[in-house]
Amino acid sequence: MFITIEGIDGGGKTTLIEPLKKYIEKKGYEVFLTREPGGTAISEEIRTILLKKRPEKIDGWTEALLFIASRKQHLSEAIIPALKANKIVICDRYMDSTTAYQGAGRGLKLDDIDEVQNIVLGEHKPDLTIYLDLNLQSANQRINHRRDVDDANRLDEENNEYKQKVIDGYHDLVQKYPNRFKVIDASLSKEEVINQAKMIIDQVLK
Ligand code: TYD
Repeated sequence: MFITIEGIDGGGKTTLIEPLKKYIEKKGYEVFLTREPGGTAISEEIRTILLKKRPEKIDGWTEALLFIASRKQHLSEAIIPALKANKIVICDRYMDSTTAYQGAGRGLKLDDIDEVQNIVLGEHKPDLTIYLDLNLQSANQRINHRRDVDDANRLDEENNEYKQKVIDGYHDLVQKYPNRFKVIDASLSKEEVINQAKMIIDQVLK
């Protein structure tokens, strides 16, 4: 089973993932936890290119293709072998991040992104995607609490208009794939978010 966790920055993916992994392991499954952009040495190098602050603007398709290239390596080197070994894969971000951030956010045509990802990733789509839903204002509040401005990477510095487009892009994906997506209100307490995620897992693993 291939599970992905999606949502905008500040939505609490990181706090959810570790307890969720432990919960699934307690049920007797082996879990492979991984993240994008990254997860393999090559993918981590691509991530460095993507997150580095630089004076010039990265072209939207350059950005999208780097994320997809990183994903392909991650898929073949790490995710597929784990799935073949009957592990439950939990991936922090996957193909929906590219649709939301580069498609909806940067304004690349969604059909084109879908086509490229279909060609490159083939049938390796997530079985379940947990989307942590948070509005822009709450996300910004959380990010400002947690980050020193000096620590911000290139993608952290995007403006509100872009972030709102990303949120709208996620909402469109939830509408388009209601069977695959399960939405959790990320403004709830950490415990409540974890509980809801556990309930979702109970349903899919029963
Ligand atoms: P990261 O520091 O890993 O963020 P987080 O811990 O919040 O997931 O950086 C990931 C950034 O890259 C984040 O701003 C989302 C963005 N991103 C894309 O724009 N497209 C993608 O396909 C992926 C996977 C991430």
